[in-house]
Amino acid sequence: MDIVITENAAEAARTVADFFDAAVRSGAATGRPAVLGLATGSSPVPAYRELVRRHREEGLSFRGVRVFMLDEYVGLPAGHAQSYHEFIRAHFGRDVDLSDAELHSPDGAAPDVQAEAARYDAAIAAAGGVDVQLLGIGTDGHIAFNEPGTSLSSRTRVEVLTEQTRSDNARFFGSSDEVPRYALTQGLGTIMDARHVVLIAEGAGKAAAVAGLVEGPVSAFCPASVLQFHQHVTVVVDEAAAAELDHASYYRFAWENRLDSVSS
Ligand code: F6R
Repeated sequence: MDIVITENAAEAARTVADFFDAAVRSGAATGRPAVLGLATGSSPVPAYRELVRRHREEGLSFRGVRVFMLDEYVGLPAGHAQSYHEFIRAHFGRDVDLSDAELHSPDGAAPDVQAEAARYDAAIAAAGGVDVQLLGIGTDGHIAFNEPGTSLSSRTRVEVLTEQTRSDNARFFGSSDEVPRYALTQGLGTIMDARHVVLIAEGAGKAAAVAGLVEGPVSAFCPASVLQFHQHVTVVVDEAAAAELDHASYYRFAWENRLDSVSS
């Protein structure tokens, strides 16, 4: 696990964008377009802006790229402004040359959400799996919508959201009462199948969750800690989110002295 402690949000965004940029360009060069896994929430938005800038100014093309999103609320009608599908379109998809047909998300309005979950896992597998998966982390240590107590090998399924998550996400709705109670989410096992996982976290509110992820015991009660079992994870954090890491100085040293340059 590489831990990258950045000085500010712009540096974090550039670091994250570098991994996605490299995967997209290498997919184009080899004729096997990249399969990207994208997250919603506030944390990844600056990285999406940076990728859009590179598309506009540096010729980064997303033609042929396939995107699989992490999760989607259950019950919001298609096109709802707070649906995660719309979020990714608004913050990324519509500003680059990514085909709408290649922006995949679980269908939270499907009549049979359990069948939809199985279909989604199969669709990711049929695409050849995710090359680079972006994640945020919840204050309770969740990744995607895998709340504390989730099986560490779970697959895509319906999850009941905790009151903490609904209150954290109330800022996107009028109030926490308007936040849906259920979500379709990739499972921890699904996320672990990605070839490279990049997690971004900023701010003091994420410090305990980041410490649990990196240095805590692997436990279903900090779902992100399962990433300690993944062989290629990059955790990008600012100083505030790194504040509870006991070994921060070693992580800085290891990143500065890494053998390979950034590549996915
Ligand atoms: C988003 C997702 C969530 C968020 C997490 C952090 O698709 O699955 O796990 O990544 O709740 O959200 P922010 O970045 O808004 O703090």
